[in-house]
Amino acid sequence: MTYVAASDRYDAMPYRRCGRSGLQLPAVSLGLWHNFGDDKPIETQRAILRRAFDLGITHFDLANNYGPPYGSAEINFGRLFAEDFAPYRDELIISTKAGYDMWPGPYGEWGSRKYVLASLDQSLRRMGLDYVDIFYSHRFDPETPLEETVGALDAAVRQGKALYVGISSYSDQRTGEAAELLRALGTPLLIHQPSYSLLNRWIEPALLDVLGEEGVGCIVFSPIAQGMLTDKYLDGVPERSRAAEGKSLDPELLSEENLAHVRALHEIAQRRGQALAQMAISWVLRDARVTSALIGASSVRQLEQNVAALDVLDFSDEELAEIDGHAVDSGINLWQRSSDA
Ligand SMILES: NC(=O)c1ccc[n+]([C@@H]2O[C@H](COP(=O)([O-])OP(=O)(O)OC[C@H]3O[C@@H](n4cnc5c(N)ncnc54)[C@H](OP(=O)(O)O)[C@@H]3O)[C@@H](O)[C@H]2O)c1
Repeated sequence: MTYVAASDRYDAMPYRRCGRSGLQLPAVSLGLWHNFGDDKPIETQRAILRRAFDLGITHFDLANNYGPPYGSAEINFGRLFAEDFAPYRDELIISTKAGYDMWPGPYGEWGSRKYVLASLDQSLRRMGLDYVDIFYSHRFDPETPLEETVGALDAAVRQGKALYVGISSYSDQRTGEAAELLRALGTPLLIHQPSYSLLNRWIEPALLDVLGEEGVGCIVFSPIAQGMLTDKYLDGVPERSRAAEGKSLDPELLSEENLAHVRALHEIAQRRGQALAQMAISWVLRDARVTSALIGASSVRQLEQNVAALDVLDFSDEELAEIDGHAVDSGINLWQRSSDA
């Protein structure tokens, strides 16, 4: 059936300004890292994307290597875009990234101009798009001059293949350097995409301050800690879950110590009248420097539950203090190598 977007799609979703830019992003954005590869039914993918847009989620986040296999999330998104969303192109913010291993040989990963620009061309072909709204350097490359990597991002904008540029999992220091280099090139750094959640707070000591000072937006990924911040792992690993699929959520992270914190957080959430996943999303948005919470969802039901987090965004000082006792780093930051470099 032909998709017609809901006429009330802009009635409820809050939009937050991305740093000191003209761009606003929905408070909740949807990522296609998992759940959009060839291992998932295309009709489920379609249903999630349609419902997301109907709920006011105007931002879909991809990367060259999302799948599996690599590239398939962009291909599937491209198909669904052509079938459902093409009439709404100007209402959508579509992002992609280059940085992780994508094709064999020395030009298939990291941050060289050769790789970054070739990857963007491939991504555009897979998605059937003329341009992306945001193009990211997916990780910091310690071997390539930063000038070269951000120069490639600037070139993407000048070639009309991207409107804005971003970086992901860069340290506070590298972020400041990238912002300065990009400013000199005339292409401001729009946004940083770091991991952040109740169980992974690395951006708090310094990165958020740099972003605030530089006027760079911040879209935080894995705010539900890949599903750990839900009730689903409290009694073992359910069959249909990310931890059971042998993917990026290592069941070893579901240690008794971590689960004790999750249980305590779950109780606090219940007292607030929220599911834990919802409190986890509201909590990352409590800082105005965080522009958007970048979630994943394997079903329409999860998506709807997560967006409903926005109904209860306020926290009392007492709640925040109690949460602090259990919102402790839990060894789940898989992207630390990039941000330590
Ligand atoms: N820049 C980077 O390096 C980077 C890295 C990682 C992610 N990202 C971006 O961030 C996006 C989100 O990452 P993520 O998927 O890890 O985020 P997440 O929101 O922390 O985790 C999403 C997963 O948690 C489970 N879940 C979500 N809502 C739930 C609910 N209400 N109840 C129960 N389970 C629920 C689902 O897994 P199951 O149902 O399958 O168990 C879902 O796929 C990615 O798609 C990508 O765009 C970027």
